[in-house]
Amino acid sequence: MIIPLVLAGGSGTRLWPLSRELFPKQLLNITDDHSMLENTLLRLNGLDSVSAPIIVCNETHRFMVAEQLRRIDVTPLSIMLEPVGRNTAPAIAVAALKALDLEEDPTLLVLPADHVIYNVPRFHDLVQKSVALASLGYLITFGIVPDSPETGYGYIKKGDLLKNGSYGACVIDRFVEKPDYDTARGYLESGEYLWNSGMFMFRASGIINELEQYEPEMLKACRSAIENGCSDLDFFRLDSGGFSKARSESIDYAVMEKTDKGAIMPFDAGWNDLGSWDALWQTGQKDEGNNVILGDVLLSDVKNSCIYSQHRLIAAVGIEDHVIVETKDALLVASRDRVQDVKKIVEQLRKRG
Ligand code: GDD
Ligand code: MG
Repeated sequence: MIIPLVLAGGSGTRLWPLSRELFPKQLLNITDDHSMLENTLLRLNGLDSVSAPIIVCNETHRFMVAEQLRRIDVTPLSIMLEPVGRNTAPAIAVAALKALDLEEDPTLLVLPADHVIYNVPRFHDLVQKSVALASLGYLITFGIVPDSPETGYGYIKKGDLLKNGSYGACVIDRFVEKPDYDTARGYLESGEYLWNSGMFMFRASGIINELEQYEPEMLKACRSAIENGCSDLDFFRLDSGGFSKARSESIDYAVMEKTDKGAIMPFDAGWNDLGSWDALWQTGQKDEGNNVILGDVLLSDVKNSCIYSQHRLIAAVGIEDHVIVETKDALLVASRDRVQDVKKIVEQLRKRG
C-alpha cells in the first residue's frame, strides 16, 4: 500500500507579499480555483493501491488545512501538527513513524504541497513504476531535466543505471543542494544533472533506518514527539517538548546527500514548483507584450513582466522584466532576474518583528 505523505508546513517566502506566514503558498489558489494543497491531493485520484494521505503542517494552519480537505472530500489518515517548523526531515520522520504504527511497512510517497504537475497520467505511471524500486530498498527521488541554471533547486548527478528493469532510474552519484549560479550553469551544460523535485518514494522502514544512521538524535526527538503527542479532533498534536528538540534540517541534507541507497527516477510529467514570481511568469498566460497580469492593471510599452494587483489599479509605463505585486498592506517591485532575493526582504521583516 502507498501512503501519500503531504508536506504542507513551508512558508513560501519567495512569493511574498502574496504568500504570508498565516496564509502560505500551499494554501493559496494560485493556478486555478483550488489551492495548491487541494490540487496535490486531487492529483492522486485514480492512482492504484493508494490509501488516504498523512498531512504534516504547522498547527497555526490546522483549521485551514482541515477545511480545504473537507472541501475536496478527502478524509486523511492523520493531520499531524508541528508546534514549530523543523524543515522536512523531522516532518518526514514523524510521518514515517506514524505510518509504521498504522500499517506494516507501507511505501511512502512524499509530496510537497506546493508543486504543479501538468501530465497527471504520466505522474501516476511514474509512481507505479517506482513502487517496485522502493520495495527493493531504494530511496527514490524524482528528478527533473533542467532547462535553466536555477539556483533555487537541488541538483543530482546521475550515476549508473540501476539494473533489472529500472525504467531509466539511476544511482545517485552526487547531490548538491542549491548551488550558486555559475555552478548551476556548469551542471546544466554538462547534461549530467537533474533537479531534485523534492518528491520522494521509499519504504517507511527504509527512511527510518537511514535517519537512525545519520540523524539518531533527530529521530529520538521525533519518537518522543509522537509518544508524548495526542489526538485532538481530526488532528494529531506532536509533543512540543520532544519535537522542538529535533534539529531543523531538510531531508535532502539529512539523508539524501549521504545515503548509498538513493536512486533517481527521471520525471517527465511536466513539473514546476512555482517557487518564485519568475516561475509564475514563466508558466502564466502572456499578453501581447509577453506580460503575465492579474487584477486591475494598465500598461503602456511594458514587456516581459509579471504584474499582480489585489486592491488598487497598477499602472506601469516603459519597463521590462519587472515584477510588481500589490496586496492590501504591501507593494513589491523587483527585477525579474532577482526574484529569488525576495526571501531576503522576508528575513528583514522577521527581524523587524
Ligand atoms: N510539514 C512541514 N514542515 N513541511 C515543510 C517544512 C516544515 O518545517 N518546511 C518545508 N516544508 C514543505 C514545504 O511546504 C514544501 O512543500 C516542501 O516541504 C519543500 O520545502 P521548501 O521550503 O519549498 O523547499 P525548497 O523549495 O527551498 O527546496 C526543496 O524543494 C526543491 C524543489 O521544489 C529541496 O528539496 C530542493 O532540493 C528541491 O529542488
Ligand atoms: Mg519549494
